[in-house]
Amino acid sequence: MTGKTIVLGIGGGIACYKIADLASKITQNGADVHAVLTHSATKFIAPLTFQALTHNPALSSLWSEENNLESGKSAGMPHIALADGADLILIAPATADLLARLAGGLGDDLLTTLVLATRAPVAIAPAMNPTMLAHPATQKNLETLRALGYRIIEPDEGRMACEHIGSGRLPETAELLAHIEAILFPNLDLAGKTVVITAGPTRESLDPVRYLTNRSSGKMGYALAEVAARRGAKVTLVSGPTNVQTPQKVEKIGVETALQMLEATQNAFQSADIMIAAAAPADFRARCIEPQKIKRGACKTAEISLIANPDIVAQCAANKRAGQIVVGFAAETQNLMKEARKKLNSKNLDAIVANDVTQAGAGFDVETNRVTWITAQTAQEWPLATKTEVAARIWDEILKF
Ligand code: PMT
Repeated sequence: MTGKTIVLGIGGGIACYKIADLASKITQNGADVHAVLTHSATKFIAPLTFQALTHNPALSSLWSEENNLESGKSAGMPHIALADGADLILIAPATADLLARLAGGLGDDLLTTLVLATRAPVAIAPAMNPTMLAHPATQKNLETLRALGYRIIEPDEGRMACEHIGSGRLPETAELLAHIEAILFPNLDLAGKTVVITAGPTRESLDPVRYLTNRSSGKMGYALAEVAARRGAKVTLVSGPTNVQTPQKVEKIGVETALQMLEATQNAFQSADIMIAAAAPADFRARCIEPQKIKRGACKTAEISLIANPDIVAQCAANKRAGQIVVGFAAETQNLMKEARKKLNSKNLDAIVANDVTQAGAGFDVETNRVTWITAQTAQEWPLATKTEVAARIWDEILKF
C-alpha cells in the first residue's frame, strides 16, 4: 500500500476498538493513514491510540487548534487537505447517526465535511445493534448512500456487545483489509464478460396464504454477483425472495417461482458468457394451487400432490453455445462427491461447486461456506471461508477455462 493515502473515519460505536488493529496493519503495509474520529468515537477510544499507530495526527475537529496541528498546509483546513490527498476514505464503524448525517449530506463535523469535499472512493462499514440496523430509517439511509455511489460493506451476523444476536457486527480486520485492497487495486479480469447468476430459494404456492420453500438465504449467489461486478463483469442476478441487498452495478431480476426463474434465466443466458446456478429452486410445485385457503376442518392428515419443476441449470446447459460456461452447485446431505459428480454429468455442467450442507458454517443461511470445486478433471477441497472469498475463488477458477 506504499504511496496510498487512506483516511479512516471512525464513528462512535464500541466496534471502533477493532479499527486500531486495522490502522496498525495498513500502516505496516506502507499506507499513509490518517484517522478522523467523530466526537462520539473519542469517548470510546483515544485519538492518541491512532496517532501512535499511524504516526500521523489523529483528528476529531474541524478546527485545527483543537487538533493540535503544528503547521503545514492542513493548518486551518484539515478537511480540504485530507479530502484532496486521500485515495480512499473508509468509515468504520458507521453508526446509525453517522449514516443519517452522511445520507443527509451534512457537514457538521470533520468527518462528514471530509466526505462532502472528497473525490476519493468512500467505503462505509455500518455496525450497530441489529434492531437499529433493521430500522426503516437506517435502511433508507443505506439505500441513499448506495445510490450516491458509496460502497457499503455488509455487516456480519453474530453476538453483539449489547448481547443481542443478529446482523450488525463490524467485519473482522481481514475482511475490511480485503475491501480496502479491492478498492485500491481493482482487478478487472472479468471486464467484457456477461454473466447470469441464480440465487436464493423459490416459493411455490399451495393456496393464497401458504407456500413451499427452503432455507436458501441467497448469500452465496449475491456474493458471486458482487465479486463479478467488482471485477468488471456485466451481471444479471435472477433471485428468488431474499433479504440480501442487491450489490452495486448488478441488474437484479426478482422472481418468486421456479417457472419464473426458468424464464428469466433462459432470457439472460442467451447473451451470457457464463452462468452460475447458486439458487435452490424448488424441485417440485403443487399440481394445482387451491384458489381459496385450504381449511383444516376435522382432517387429521392432509396430502399435497406435487409435480416436478423444470431443471433450470440443466435446460440452459443443454442448449449452451460453444464457449458458454455453465457452473452449478450441489447441496448434499450425504455422498457429497458421488452425488455432485452425477449432477455435473447429467446436467452437462463445466464445473460444480459441492457443499455438504450438514457441516457447521457451510451451505444455507450462514456467512461462510466449505466447498469442493469439481470439474471433469479435478476435485479441489477448499477450506472454510467467507462466501465472498469462496465466490472470488470460483471466479478465479472459471477464468482458467
Ligand atoms: O443461499 P445461501 O443461504 O447462501 O446457501 C447457499 C446454497 C447452499 C443454496 C448454495 O451454496 C447451493 O448449494 N445452491 C444449490 C442448491 C440446490 O438446489 O442444490 P441441488 O443439488 O438441489 O441442485 C443442483 C443444481 O441444480 C444447482 O445448481 C441448482 O441451482 C440447480 N437447480 C436445481 C433444481 C432446479 N429445479 N433447477 C436448478 O437449476
